[in-house]
Amino acid sequence: MSAKHAALTVADSGKQTELPLIEGSLGPATLDIGRLYRDTGLFTFDQGFVSTASCKSAITYIDGDQGVLLYRGYPIEQLAQNSSFLEVAYLLINGELPDAGQAQVFEHEVTHHTMMHESLKTFMHGFHYDAHPMAMLCGVIGSLAAFYHEQLDIDDAEHRRLAAIRLIAKMPTIAAAAYRYSIGWPIRFPRNNLEYCERFLHMMFEVPSEPLHLKPVAARALDLLFILHADHEQNASTSTVRLVGSTGANPYACVAAGIAALWGPAHGGANEAVLKMLEEIGDASQVARAVQRAKDKDSGFRLMGFGHRVYKNYDPRAAIIREMCHKVLDELGVSDPLLDVAMELEQAALKDDYFVERKLYPNVDFYSGIIYKALGIPTSMFTVMFAIARTAGWVAHWLEQSADASTKIGRPRQIYTGAVRRDYVAVDRR
Ligand code: ACO
Repeated sequence: MSAKHAALTVADSGKQTELPLIEGSLGPATLDIGRLYRDTGLFTFDQGFVSTASCKSAITYIDGDQGVLLYRGYPIEQLAQNSSFLEVAYLLINGELPDAGQAQVFEHEVTHHTMMHESLKTFMHGFHYDAHPMAMLCGVIGSLAAFYHEQLDIDDAEHRRLAAIRLIAKMPTIAAAAYRYSIGWPIRFPRNNLEYCERFLHMMFEVPSEPLHLKPVAARALDLLFILHADHEQNASTSTVRLVGSTGANPYACVAAGIAALWGPAHGGANEAVLKMLEEIGDASQVARAVQRAKDKDSGFRLMGFGHRVYKNYDPRAAIIREMCHKVLDELGVSDPLLDVAMELEQAALKDDYFVERKLYPNVDFYSGIIYKALGIPTSMFTVMFAIARTAGWVAHWLEQSADASTKIGRPRQIYTGAVRRDYVAVDRR
């Protein structure tokens, strides 16, 4: 990484500073404004972090204009084609693809940390039967800190590694348990003879009274979705994990905060919102009306699953997932009228000037909801599915930040717009 400098003169004040220009291995050069306030007395304002890098990271690279997504340098298309979710998780965490022995050890470790502490079940039973599974996931993951407090020294690399493994391993167990609790089914134990995604589907759908027969495409589709959702550099939930982590909080608290951030409809809640929107549109003949509504700013309606803060080109994950969506519906023999609505909507938006001019293309969530629905996963679990996958990214970023000695507590500035100084007025004179 080389450092050049850019001179900055603040108009009218005559104040000058020289700001270092940081270049990463890919992407635009970045102006390091850390000394700006000291040298000029000025803050910067960048609502929504549109032009602001919050950290240095070697994990994921996105070129939103070109539609490029790389995990540790590997294109998402190649990983989707050749890899598995657990291999991708290893890659994100460790920086390199595992050799056969490393992959086996990692899989063994994850598999042998999937069990939930029995007391956690009691904790889950405290929720009301109709609690949203994201509410349960957020609370229960946060509570893990209370179960592993003897291995919570964040300055100990082995404690950190173990917490990362535990989070990746237990997230599907807790997610499936939240679902089963909501429908009144007994919680299933994780089965060690199954692979990560197959094991999750068994924990979700197997009943004690009969065996579950899964078509291989179900686990493969889930694995693919998990690969595509595993990381996305400094998205809102990952930035939340990093911000909370910068205070020295434990990893379970950090990931619980990430889950909370993911819950919002502008982020991980979008796949749930897509399905609700498709159901609301109802029929392919109503698509033109929906597109018109989305263009009318007064309607307050947006096409869910369209647009992305970073991709101002086709989301590369959407192209991969679109193909899998058809495969899943074919192989599972699912004919879903919502897919017709989705196809019609995609075509209508791609041809419409409003969407073309603003570069609003379908994003990964546009298709993921349809696949989840075909797999029998209820809508309320869609964001939970995203959380399982994104845990790999969250822990990779938390580990990267925790091992970085230059990490500082994240503490933004503000532009104060409130009342100027004034004196207290007694209640009888207000
Ligand atoms: N439907 C209709 N219009 C839209 C949409 C949409 N989905 N998305 C953006 N626009 C319009 C905005 O009204 C705005 O129009 P204007 O320039 O006339 O004012 C313009 O496009 C730019 O929109 P912004 O909100 O400024 O774009 P931003 O980058 O801040 O937002 C976001 C990105 C939040 C994803 C937005 O496109 C959106 O709300 N999409 C729908 C929700 C969604 O699918 N979220 C999933 C994100 S992906 C993920 O988390 C995995």
